[in-house]
Amino acid sequence: MLTEKDKKYVWHPYTQEKTAPAPIPIVSGKGSFLFSESGEKYLDAISSWWVNIHGHSHPYISKKISEQSKKLEQVIFAGFTHPKAIELAERLIKILPSNHEKIFYSDDGSTSVEVALKMSFQYWANLHSNSTGSAKKKKVKVLALEGAYHGDTFGAMSVSERGIFTRPFVPFLFKVIHVPFPVKNGKEAIRFFKLQINKFKEQISSFIFEPLVQGAAGMRMYDKEVLNEMIYLCKKNNILTIADEVMTGFGRTGKMFATDYLSEKPDVICLSKGITGGFLPLGVTSCTGKVYEAFYSNEKSKTFFHGHSYTANPLACAAACASLDLFEKKETWKKIGMIEKMHKAFADEIKSLPGVSKTRTLGTIFALELKTENETAYFNPMRNVIYNYFISQKIILRPLGNIIYILPPFSISENELKKIYSVIKKFLSMRF
Ligand SMILES: Cc1ncc(COP(=O)(O)O)c(C=O)c1O
Repeated sequence: MLTEKDKKYVWHPYTQEKTAPAPIPIVSGKGSFLFSESGEKYLDAISSWWVNIHGHSHPYISKKISEQSKKLEQVIFAGFTHPKAIELAERLIKILPSNHEKIFYSDDGSTSVEVALKMSFQYWANLHSNSTGSAKKKKVKVLALEGAYHGDTFGAMSVSERGIFTRPFVPFLFKVIHVPFPVKNGKEAIRFFKLQINKFKEQISSFIFEPLVQGAAGMRMYDKEVLNEMIYLCKKNNILTIADEVMTGFGRTGKMFATDYLSEKPDVICLSKGITGGFLPLGVTSCTGKVYEAFYSNEKSKTFFHGHSYTANPLACAAACASLDLFEKKETWKKIGMIEKMHKAFADEIKSLPGVSKTRTLGTIFALELKTENETAYFNPMRNVIYNYFISQKIILRPLGNIIYILPPFSISENELKKIYSVIKKFLSMRF
């Protein structure tokens, strides 16, 4: 049995190894399903931590990775380049906001955020440094939204919500100005935002946000008008804006990127998760020409000194190009439209059922907040009850506390979606 050896040798993420049930050993995947060692079939309603896009083991992406592995598996990306990294950068620049000109590669969502933060700090340091390299002005503060989750590395943790995940590391995190999460018309958030900008604008280097949907906070959604105003205020006050599209990118919100909904475009965008169709880890930080220019210099000290061993790994870039090929097919967007329509109808259908506090949808993302006497939070005791129930029904739904969400791969069929909805309804009728 795989689980015995797993227990002996492996340490799993976000898992209390002493009390958590043994992990389910998965040996294969196809479309929206994962298959266990004992032959059970699980419907993956959360795209395996939000990474899978076109279905598991998609034959086209698999073929493209295999072809690439026979040509070039890896090459150092400083002093060298390769066709797939160039192709991917060119294709991304064509679909990202028109003011974006450069692609910087890294490894995953957290590192794409680290890159964005370092880029924005050094942007100001480069602009303000004199010929001896010492910075005159100190733009060291960052604005971030309350409830944010940007990853688990130190910079990413610093700009995320402080809570149980970050508690042991608080002494090592840099200080951030947390802006209230915009509810309804976002008046309070904007008022606070303006206040902070007026007070600290000389010191604020950037504003980082998950555009329109905060994933880990429970698929919390907010209006594009509020975000447009926040970005506009930043632009007026010399503050760089960073959109963390690690979760929202690649069709999740119904458009290719959540920033496609915005009229004000950010200076920097972070991408990862779905970028390779969920096959391989890859991080991307894109930026405008204005940002890039601040590093383009005869002075060595203005170089962006950042890189990872696997930067722009050719296999990951080949997977990402293959995934983009699939996005060029009408079929993919028809599927996204179908998921969006069905989610909306389901949200309408259940919104007044007993036990349902709130429902929300955007594109292929659906979330349902259950009524609870406890706090709406990750450690809400309902979490394990919900998780175990859905696993017993062979559906992978990993609730965020008392919030059940669906974030399916686009391979999902109408019947598979209906199956998820019916199990949710059964759960509601049993519990409330
Ligand atoms: C918005 C956002 N940013 C960054 C990350 C971190 O990505 P990774 O887990 O690939 O480091 C996540 C992960 O869930 C995320 O949702």
